[in-house]
Amino acid sequence: MKKIYLDYAATSPVEPQVLKAMEPYFNRKFGNPNSVHSWGQEARSAMEQSRKQVADFFKAQTQEIIFLSGATEANNLAVKGAVQAWQKQNPGKTAHLIVSPIEHHCVLDTVLGLKNQGIKITWLKTDKYGLVDLKQIKNSIQKNTVLVSVIFGNNEVGTIQPILKIGEIIKNVKNKQGYPYFHTDAVQAVQYLKINVKLMAIDLFSASAHKFYGPKGVGFLFCKKGVSLNKQLQGGSQEHNLRAGTENVPGIIGLAKALELIKTNNFKESQRLKSLRDDFIEKITTTIPKAKLTGHSQKRLPHIASFVMPGAEGEAMLLHLDSKGIAASSGSACTSGKLEPSHVLLSMGVKPEAAHSSLRFSLGKNTNKRDLEYTGENLAKIVKTLRQMNPLYKA
Ligand SMILES: Cc1ncc(COP(=O)(O)O)c(C=O)c1O
Repeated sequence: MKKIYLDYAATSPVEPQVLKAMEPYFNRKFGNPNSVHSWGQEARSAMEQSRKQVADFFKAQTQEIIFLSGATEANNLAVKGAVQAWQKQNPGKTAHLIVSPIEHHCVLDTVLGLKNQGIKITWLKTDKYGLVDLKQIKNSIQKNTVLVSVIFGNNEVGTIQPILKIGEIIKNVKNKQGYPYFHTDAVQAVQYLKINVKLMAIDLFSASAHKFYGPKGVGFLFCKKGVSLNKQLQGGSQEHNLRAGTENVPGIIGLAKALELIKTNNFKESQRLKSLRDDFIEKITTTIPKAKLTGHSQKRLPHIASFVMPGAEGEAMLLHLDSKGIAASSGSACTSGKLEPSHVLLSMGVKPEAAHSSLRFSLGKNTNKRDLEYTGENLAKIVKTLRQMNPLYKA
């Protein structure tokens, strides 16, 4: 059976060149980068070279790159770490956060945990495309606002936020200690959008290597010089004393190599995917009755095409697609054995029934026109069948 992978936003295969760069650091060059002997120094030197490559890519300084296990850890460190550091500096005062409601669960749940501890939260509104309101950000900033967190490009609906403008708003109201900080989850944006931390006035951003053809279990947090964070793991003083634990050297080498590959072929690939994505969106929304694009039609990540298909349940569509060899994803999350509609779609005003019918296709290096046509044809048949089986669906 034909196999078509359209779930690159979930994870991507490691590039052969990345694997090759990593390989020596598993065995021949296996030293612990924190050891003083030559094995250790060999590993440290390669790791620091990688750090420089990552920093240069984002116009950052080397000491501003903290390697860790991925974006989940990076976002936890950024949000919890910033709040705890602020609390130390402001004993007895209540911290305040401004957060978009369309964050990935690793930000959302971290923020909800802080809310349970008494931290005040302002949830931003989004419009029907998932865009945040710049005026609301400006008007919500208070004396005790520690951090504003807005995802760069949304993983479910692909909407890209006005990061440059948000950075400017925050930069203009910062206090002497540099608060509020601007944090953005850039996981889905790293490989397709230019991120310039200086220009965009970003204080903290997170990334995971496996989303851009690097290995799983490694990522980094950009933490601007002068930003105060409390470390979340106790132990050694690795990573500028912000992340205890021996670094994943092969992973870090792989992450830097994967970024280097983005540098060389990104623009062309980004244009190729945009064109494929738009043709696919056009096909789906014109051939499947009531199929609706979710997210913004232009301000969207090149690799994400997301829809709702009223009358057809998301998980059922996924299973049928899988039986045809096609991998996609739905926005619903399984919580306590029950499928919950996507919080992203609900925040955008999508009705819960429609949100249950969501589907995300994410494109990548092996995606081509023929495969998308095949996917579109199969999806049309699947949706038709599921709707016929649904007594509540009215055509
Ligand atoms: C936007 C976004 N943030 C954070 C994460 C978490 O990344 P990881 O699972 O690599 O920690 C993901 C993964 O899907 C994501 O898409």
